[in-house]
Formats: sequence, C-alpha cells, structure tokens
Amino acid sequence: METPTPPRPAERPRRLDQLLASCGYCSRREARGWLRRGGVTVDGVVERAPDRRVLPSAVLVEGEPVDHPDGLVVLLHKTSGTLCTHDDGEGETVFARLPERWRHRHPPLVAAGRLDKDATGLLVLTDQGDLVHGWTSPRRHVAKGYVATLDREVREEWVGLFAAGLSIGDERPCLPARLEGVGGREAFVELHEGRHHQVKRMFAAVGAMVLGLHRTRFGPFELGDLRPGAWRVVDGPWAGGGERGDPQPLCVLA
Ligand code: URA
Repeated sequence: METPTPPRPAERPRRLDQLLASCGYCSRREARGWLRRGGVTVDGVVERAPDRRVLPSAVLVEGEPVDHPDGLVVLLHKTSGTLCTHDDGEGETVFARLPERWRHRHPPLVAAGRLDKDATGLLVLTDQGDLVHGWTSPRRHVAKGYVATLDREVREEWVGLFAAGLSIGDERPCLPARLEGVGGREAFVELHEGRHHQVKRMFAAVGAMVLGLHRTRFGPFELGDLRPGAWRVVDGPWAGGGERGDPQPLCVLA
C-alpha cells in the first residue's frame, strides 16, 4: 500500500458516494454500480464501498485527481445568443460550453449575475451559494462594468444623470453609476447593483436604446483577454479552499 496522502488544511473526510455525486461523476444512487467498475482508488488502492469516508485529495478517478472537490469558480466569455440558465428550451445555454460533467455537479454551477441572451462578455459561474450571494446581494454594492453600444451619440449631460441615480420605474431610483463616453455611440457604465435589464433601462430613461451590451468587469474579475466562448477556472480565495492565488491557464473551446 502507498503512503497515505497528507490532508490539506481545508480538507475534511467525506463519503465517497457523496464526493463523486457532488463533482458530477454519477448520482449517489448510481455510485455503488459505478464504483464496482474499479476505476476509483483511495491512497492507491481500488475502493468499491460508496460509504467509505475519504479525503478528496487521496482519491483518483481513472487515475486523475477528483475534479475540483472544494468547489468551482469559472470565468466565461459569453457569446451573444446564449442563455444563462440550465433550461435549454429556448436555445443554447452557456453551460453547453463547459465540460459535460460540470452540468451534473451538486450544488449546481450557476451564473452569479446573469447576462441577457443578446449580451456578451464576462460571466462568473460558481457552485458556491455563499459566493453568489456575496456577489449579487444588493447590500454589497459589487461593481460591474459594461460597454454599451447605443443608437445615438453619448451626451455629456447623461454623466450627471447617471451619477445622481436614475429613476427607471422601480420603487427606488438606481444607485449612483459612473458613465464615461468611450467615443461616438459607445459608453462605459459602472454599476454597483444588478437589477433586471438595468443598463438597457437606464439608457432608455435618457432616451437611448442599447444595441449591444458587453460586460468587462464583475466584482474582483476582469474579462481581460479571454476570447469569445473561452473560459477558465479561477483558483484562489474564492474557490473553496484553493491554496493558489493564480488563475489556471486559459481553456479555449474547440
Ligand atoms: N443590464 C442589462 O440591461 N442587461 C444585462 O444583461 C446586464 C445588465
């Protein structure tokens, strides 16, 4: 038998069937049959008992470490025409871009702060509810940056209107937002809240229509040079117990 893997500081023993199901390999019900195939080892020894308590770092599935047992945070460059839901009844979802196994994780991978179907740019996906709550709670005022392409030239007077807090037909006016003309019909907007269709409704309130909307920033994350349709996993303090601060290399879809 090989030397047992030393536990990482954040690790706790988990039932093997629960671990495999949470990472999307199989359902808890399927785990017994799945393990019978002999593809899972614990500390180098084939393990077939679904109720065995294991440290995730000691487990290999088909010779590979368990796929993000501590949780996932993924940055995706959303393309136009894709939906931020798991329901593909109305078209392709952003999840179709990601590895198939991630669609079966528990808790599920969800978008923190959705983008409209026609919007593009930075989408943050995670399976960690506390992160979603922290990044989307109206009380946290997390910054989001957008470049909007309009049906008319940006007007100087809008800067003050956005900064004062626009009324867009909700109970309360918007929080102050920063508007900067990027040139011609393009504007950069920084918001600290995330209401439904907020950017489109803010421009509608000053008489402009948004023809294109692209998110460049969401909380601590920048879109950077992530290409359309590409994604990458973020390690670090956000990703449940990750110890490395550096993002992993870019993963580009075929
Ligand atoms: N505001 C919008 O109008 N749409 C989005 O997708 C995001 C912000």
